[in-house]
Amino acid sequence: MNEKTVHFSDLGLVNTRELFKKAVTGGYAIPAYNFNNLEQLQAIVVACVETSSPVIIQVSKGARNYANETMLRYMAMGAVNMAREMGADLPICLHLDHGDSFELCKSCIDSGFSSVMIDGSHLPYEENVALTRKVVEYAHERDVTVEGELGVLAGIEDEVVAETSTYTKPEEVEDFVKKTGVDSLAISIGTSHGAYKFKLKEGESVPPLRFDILDEIEKRIPGFPIVLHGASSVVQEYVELINKYGGKMDGAVGVPEEQLRKAAASAVCKINIDSDGRLAVTAKIREYMANDPGEFDPRKYLGAARKELVSLIKHKNEAVLGSAGKA
Ligand code: G3H
Ligand code: 13P
Ligand code: ZN
Repeated sequence: MNEKTVHFSDLGLVNTRELFKKAVTGGYAIPAYNFNNLEQLQAIVVACVETSSPVIIQVSKGARNYANETMLRYMAMGAVNMAREMGADLPICLHLDHGDSFELCKSCIDSGFSSVMIDGSHLPYEENVALTRKVVEYAHERDVTVEGELGVLAGIEDEVVAETSTYTKPEEVEDFVKKTGVDSLAISIGTSHGAYKFKLKEGESVPPLRFDILDEIEKRIPGFPIVLHGASSVVQEYVELINKYGGKMDGAVGVPEEQLRKAAASAVCKINIDSDGRLAVTAKIREYMANDPGEFDPRKYLGAARKELVSLIKHKNEAVLGSAGKA
């Protein structure tokens, strides 16, 4: 411990343990929204207060480099206090998304994160186990919870690009959970990161997620918290606005909401959403600038983006994840 070390409880944050216990028994999922800047975090807080939803605010390695680790710590503390001043004592967890090394996880834990993901999914199985175990040992001594991953999602996860996905092997999950001591497990059942999740030919519809694999996993580790990454729906209204106002996003498509509802009602108790928020922000900024080309006050166009993000997040909490009213 050095003088820069802060424990998450001093920032008013919570780890995922209680959140997941309630979500698993209650048949809903805790939303995990990525953020990089002030407006995104304000929107998450406002939407979660207004829907009375517990929330995981998550930061990737890239976001941490972008925002600065010290700034982030105080932003998270600000989120907790802002919610309290709005009259809601929301459980807020600050989580590292896709941690790729022990050192990064340790640094986040030491700077006040209440939860970390160690993503060893690209490593050979035994190496994934060893790395995850090492992070769990450090984290649990400090009451920080840990998410591990088995199976590979297609798409981009920070600097790692996977062309194709490898589904989670149900026969590995029990051994992995037992050997590592993780608190939750991210799995691969057909989702992928980013705005181009499925390459569809004319007339084709989105293939369903592999709920059969999820069922197999649930049978082997009943009640264990499962995490779904790459779960943006890629809201078509935003894609259309982006294309209408000078953007170019051809063939952007995501996971249909009814599949996410089904997942949220199962052992999936954390659903990660980043791309939908990015689309909402980009669509509204493009629209604002096209309609008011003389405007140069960032508060105007960022304010419009933030307002849209609030409605998107409220909709997710209320109509997709089922987390509204569960704070
Ligand atoms: O899984 C990836 C997240 O959407 C974070 O993306 O690494 O570009 O911040 P990022
Ligand atoms: P999306 O790209 O589908 O929003 O997924 C985000 C994610 O999984 C962050 O870890
Ligand atoms: Zn992810």
